[in-house]
Parts: sequence; C-alpha cells; structure tokens
Amino acid sequence: MEAPAPDDLSESWQVIHGYSISIRPLRRADLDIESAFVQGLSQQTRHNRLLGGAINISRTYIEQLTTIDYSRDMALAAVVMSENSEVLIGVARYVMEAGTGSGPAPCEFAIVLADAWQGRGIGRHMMAKLIAVARSRGVPSLYGEILSTNQGMLELVKKLGFRLQRHPQDATVMRATLDLG
Ligand SMILES: CC(C)(COP(=O)(O)OP(=O)(O)OC[C@H]1O[C@@H](n2cnc3c(N)ncnc32)[C@H](O)[C@@H]1OP(=O)(O)O)[C@@H](O)C(=O)NCCC(=O)NCCS
Repeated sequence: MEAPAPDDLSESWQVIHGYSISIRPLRRADLDIESAFVQGLSQQTRHNRLLGGAINISRTYIEQLTTIDYSRDMALAAVVMSENSEVLIGVARYVMEAGTGSGPAPCEFAIVLADAWQGRGIGRHMMAKLIAVARSRGVPSLYGEILSTNQGMLELVKKLGFRLQRHPQDATVMRATLDLG
C-alpha cells in the first residue's frame, strides 16, 4: 500500500508574468496534466532530462511518473492556473535507492521544467524545497546524473552545494552529490 501525498508540502510561491505558481506534491490524479507536460517538452529538454530524444510516451509510462510511494519517494509539482485548469510546468523528484534497510537511504533526484518556464528561478526554488524535504525526512544524501553538456543544471547544483564528480563509467555524465547529514 502506497503512502498518500502529504498535504503539508503545498505552497503558493510567486507570481511570474501574472501567473501564480503553486508547488504541491504530484498526485495520481495528475495523469492528464503530466501527460501534457511530458509531451510538450522539447527534444533538448528531454535530452537533458535523460529521457532520450524521441521517447515513446505510453500511458503506462505516465502512470509510473504519477504513482509515487510517499513513504519513501517525493515528487513536487509546480502548477499554474490557465483558463480555470491547472497546467503542470515543472516536476522535481527523488527516488530512494532500492534494496536498502529499514531507514532512509540515499535518493536519486531529477528535475525538469517546461521550456517556456526555464530560467525564471523556478528550478532553483524547487530544488531547494526538495533538499529541505529530503533533509527533514532523514534522507542521508541526494545524488543525480547530469550530462556534462548541461551547463545550466551543473551551475544550479554547484550553487546548491552539491559536489560534482566524473561518472566512473561514462565520460558524458557527471554525478552530483549532496550530503544532508
Ligand atoms: C536545469 C533546470 C532544471 C534549471 O531550472 P531553471 O528554472 O531553468 O533554473 P533557474 O532559473 O532556477 O536558475 C538557477 C541557476 O541555475 C543556473 N542556470 C539555469 N539555467 C542556466 C543556463 N541556461 N545557463 C547557465 N546557467 C543556468 C544559473 O546559475 C541560475 O542562477 P542565476 O539565476 O543566479 O543565474 C531547467 O532549466 C530544466 O528543466 N532544464 C531541462 C531539463 C534538465 O536539464 N534537467 C536536469 C536533469 S539532471
């Protein structure tokens, strides 16, 4: 049985270009807005998110993205209201390493913003919130793989205090790690 989405992580954050941005846990009911979000990402953004250039976006895949076990994992959604409907503009998540003992284990993070919303401080805010949530839940460290060509994300994680190392098996990828202890 999966733990439900925690309500206490919701916040109305900031107004950008007249849109009020809310950040809240991603829910299973977000299937349609997650689908529209992923389908709308440019090739470049998908490539940087390591989703592959021409990923086949099946219903099963979208279901996987919106089914979160909140007792271990976390997925924060940034949404705006447009014509009385929510539009998903970003997701920051972490997933706990499998096969670990009973306590919290290191978690792998991932983040992606819709192209039109990149470069406006939302990624930094979401990563900071993701880190704070991980810390409050006793997660010992966050890590993620970033393409060596992804200057924006490399800069962002450096500013957030992550250390960067070359990936041991893949020269095109850097590994970013943040100890939270
Ligand atoms: C990478 C990403 C998450 C950053 O989020 P964002 O909202 O665009 O970034 P922000 O506006 O919060 O920028 C925060 C910092 O990141 C750095 N940064 C972001 N975009 C940058 C770019 N294109 N070039 C250089 N630095 C950049 C800057 O240091 C910036 O700090 P500043 O505002 O003081 O200049 C977002 O651009 C994105 O979704 N990219 C595509 C998917 C991706 O790369 N995901 C990461 C996979 S590991």
